Amino acid sequence: MDTKRFSLGGKATLLGRSRSLGAAFLGLFVWFASASSLSLNAPDSEFPYPAQYDNLLRNYKSGWTQLTEYHLSGLHWDQFIVVYINKDPMTYFHNYFEFLKQQTDGFDDDWDDEADASDFRAYAEGTIVLKEHYTPLDGKPGPRERLTAMVKREPGYDSKFGDWQYLWFEPETGAIVADGNSSDPLIFKSCVDCHSGIAERDYIFSTVPGIPVE
Ligand code: HEC
Repeated sequence: MDTKRFSLGGKATLLGRSRSLGAAFLGLFVWFASASSLSLNAPDSEFPYPAQYDNLLRNYKSGWTQLTEYHLSGLHWDQFIVVYINKDPMTYFHNYFEFLKQQTDGFDDDWDDEADASDFRAYAEGTIVLKEHYTPLDGKPGPRERLTAMVKREPGYDSKFGDWQYLWFEPETGAIVADGNSSDPLIFKSCVDCHSGIAERDYIFSTVPGIPVE
């Protein structure tokens, strides 16, 4: 009886051991999986941009704040995107949390959008928000698709639409596809028309969860 109990105990211990071994392997697997996705997400080289923007965009990967991880964006044509900002990342994070609050406000009876809108902050002149786009490949960011950016210009640059300049560059050569403000019909149709829907957020969606700033 004792022996039986002992052997049972032994089996249980063995089972316990193989379970913890299994857990260890699973842990290792998860670690490898996340390590490989981390290395995938490690900063590689910058997208090219025209020489005239070198002073504005140089070292954006290493010198700016990376606001988001790789994020599959439904509205931006189902591409993976990563967003960077040259200064004042807290305005993005603040507006992101205001946006989340608005989402949950929808569950109560308070539909007072005016009150919600007043909590959003505007960006300082000289702020540049840049977005890399990648075509998905096997569910991961694949080839580069385009580089877009918005530059907060001086008051009066485009006062009806928050004084933002919109940039869109070719992914391989850095050539300009579009560059300007709402007065350029291509920019209006391809960018401003959609971004103007969130004027209260200063035209920056800030809907992608941010990486906490260290
Ligand atoms: C159909 C709507 C739509 C159009 C058109 C559009 N965008 Fe966006 N844009 C978005 C949305 C939504 C986001 C938020 C992130 C996401 O889901 O991609 C965004 C995010 C951005 C961001 C990052 C900051 C932010 O708003 O959170 C930049 C920079 C940007 N877009 C630039 C551009 C430029 C430049 C163009 C024109 C070439 C453009 N966008 C056209 C919808 C649009």
